[in-house]
Amino acid sequence: MTPAEAKKRIADLRKQVTHHAELYYRQAKPEISDHDYDQLERELADLEKQFPQFASAESPTQKVGDDRLQGFQEVAHRQKMLSLDNTYNEEELRAFHTRLTKLVETDDLRYTVEPKIDGLAVSLTYEAGKLVRAVTRGKGDKGDDITANVLTIAMLPRQLKGTAPRVVEIRGEIYMTQAEFERLNAERVAAGEELYANPRNTAAGTIKQLDTAEVARRKLSIVLYSLGYCEPEVVASQTALQKQIRAWGLPAVEKYWTVRGIDEAWAAIGELDRIRRTFAYGTDGAVVKLDDVAQQRLAGSTDKSPRWAIAYKYKPDTARTRLKAITIQVGKTGILSPVAELEPVHLSLSTIARATLHNEDEIRRKDIRVGDLVEIERAGEVIPAVLRSFPEERPAGAKEFNLFEAVGGKCPVCGGKIARVEVDTESGVGAAWKCQNYDCQAQRAGRLGFFCSRRALAIDGLGETVAAKLVELGLVKDPPDLYDVSLETLATLNLGTAEEPRVFGEKNAAKLVAAREAARTLPLEKWLYALSVPDVGESTARELGKRHRNFVELADSKLLQAVLRKAALEEEKELQSPNSKKNPAKDEAEKERRKARRVEIDGEIAALNDGILAGVPSDIGPAVAASTLEFFASEHGQRLRAKLDKLGIDPQGTVLTAGKFTGKTFVLTGTLPTLKREEAEQKILAAGGKTSGSVSKKTSYVLAGAEAGSKLDKARELGVPVIDEAEFLRLLQG
Ligand code: IVH
Repeated sequence: MTPAEAKKRIADLRKQVTHHAELYYRQAKPEISDHDYDQLERELADLEKQFPQFASAESPTQKVGDDRLQGFQEVAHRQKMLSLDNTYNEEELRAFHTRLTKLVETDDLRYTVEPKIDGLAVSLTYEAGKLVRAVTRGKGDKGDDITANVLTIAMLPRQLKGTAPRVVEIRGEIYMTQAEFERLNAERVAAGEELYANPRNTAAGTIKQLDTAEVARRKLSIVLYSLGYCEPEVVASQTALQKQIRAWGLPAVEKYWTVRGIDEAWAAIGELDRIRRTFAYGTDGAVVKLDDVAQQRLAGSTDKSPRWAIAYKYKPDTARTRLKAITIQVGKTGILSPVAELEPVHLSLSTIARATLHNEDEIRRKDIRVGDLVEIERAGEVIPAVLRSFPEERPAGAKEFNLFEAVGGKCPVCGGKIARVEVDTESGVGAAWKCQNYDCQAQRAGRLGFFCSRRALAIDGLGETVAAKLVELGLVKDPPDLYDVSLETLATLNLGTAEEPRVFGEKNAAKLVAAREAARTLPLEKWLYALSVPDVGESTARELGKRHRNFVELADSKLLQAVLRKAALEEEKELQSPNSKKNPAKDEAEKERRKARRVEIDGEIAALNDGILAGVPSDIGPAVAASTLEFFASEHGQRLRAKLDKLGIDPQGTVLTAGKFTGKTFVLTGTLPTLKREEAEQKILAAGGKTSGSVSKKTSYVLAGAEAGSKLDKARELGVPVIDEAEFLRLLQG
């Protein structure tokens, strides 16, 4: 097949697959057999692999990104979806019971005790027994319509058995079984892709972010446990509901208890804890509910949660084992982090041999030493952590850990210099050692992995192992070098050892090539984020991407220079304070001079704020500005840009700088009749205009809504035109 023929066939197949997927997954009215559908899809996928130049993120074979979220419709729940209050110990649980005895005016209370499923809440509406809608909890009053995705859940009946109410909202949890989670992750390991974090996030990501075909491929499960709106009412107790759910043929919790009094409830919570790990879904607690529906009504609800039910959260799983060694990992920024090498131990369904120790300060604070018996914890996250040590059982001669000594004063990977730097940690600012060599292999591999990660350029197929291998072989120094690695080289890449080879393979290589080609045209914000500019996180990259057309403009950014100028002026102003203690004025004359200078400074700052810095968010501060400008001026920054030029990659900013409002500054005040403030701002930015927080002579328009305040007065005083929403929209169109 020639490329031209392939192109045509691919376009044709995409149309067909999209059409049938729509019929099959969304409307559940397929026109062709599953087998025929699969064949079409496979042919398309094969062609896209064979001709990666025609790969496209829009193809039905690819997952779709964020924009698909906009495709979800917001739907109101007939009855609000509440959440649950939590308790963490027996005392709090008993306090819940005491409160209820007062509200219900009896101390003879029946409860149900059920597992608390760690999934994602969903409300299913059945009308006359037929499933018509599935909606996420959303904000409680309304959520996203996820019906199409929920219809892929094989175990969920579309039709209730027996007699069904006219309308009923049945609520429960969507989850992913441990087995399915492991199956998906095994697939990803084989394809060299990033691993999913845990079943819960994978389930949530699956139901809300991917196309329906992909949702169907990752088998989701569901379990139901409560009612919302129900007409006519069908049950008088939670126990009856548990039975009804089963009678309707719906999946229900594996076990629940109906008990009398809080002592029995407490005992059931203990029993549940002993068996819950055998369930198909993850559980992080027990839910205790007042059994009697009439009593539930008496107890009532707050805005957030019912007073008649409570969650009891179990402590995360922990285990004890021996700390064999502390090794040091070097991350993409060069930070040296300690890792605990453990005597393998079983914890929450997996065997743990490594755990994070966070940082050196943490090791000292917890007095953890090599050879210690330690307690490790796994709290839902992928990486288990070392909680504590048992100094009383410490082997003789165990020494306090010193990271600098452990690495012999140099980077354990490249042997380069290390330096003490400040870092943000979960518990505030701390200090860490950092490898100073930008070209350290560990940093290179880290940056390459990050470059390809889902939040960056989403070059699927390149995970940690492949990144490390490409760097180790010298095939990639800077991330964009990835574009020079040929399909053949990738296909024959040995990820194993000489004795035990594990070849990356044709299929994976083709997929990677297609993904890297698709990334070429991603916007500036994605590329900027992907290149690991220090201090530039995702949201900063987005803001910068909106305000610069390309890397050329960014590298010499007038805006960032203005941010630095403003910071310098503010610093000078501080020093020029007439009564400065740090920098005392010599005499009255100097005080006067300072006052005058401060007026000048204020003027210059105001001009910047109303001009080039108008509407620039605080994300883009002096640290970001300095670090971005330095990065592009640095030798490696220039090297990166030269490389991108050579590859013909020229990512574009997301905002048209020339538009209806180019050169115009707007000030918004009051409440507009239809547009939200952010929407109006967005429209202004998108049309090349700016917004500012204060009215000055330079303001082009004040866009005023109801209850506009002092800004309106100021505008009138200065003779700045005041417009309303209708006029604003006319300007935008006209
Ligand atoms: S009953 C009005 N029962 O936990 C009562 N919720 O943290 C609302 N959850 O929003 C919920 N297992 O999504 C109930 N057996 C169970 C549950 C359960 C998990 C979820 C539910 C709720 C959240 C609160």
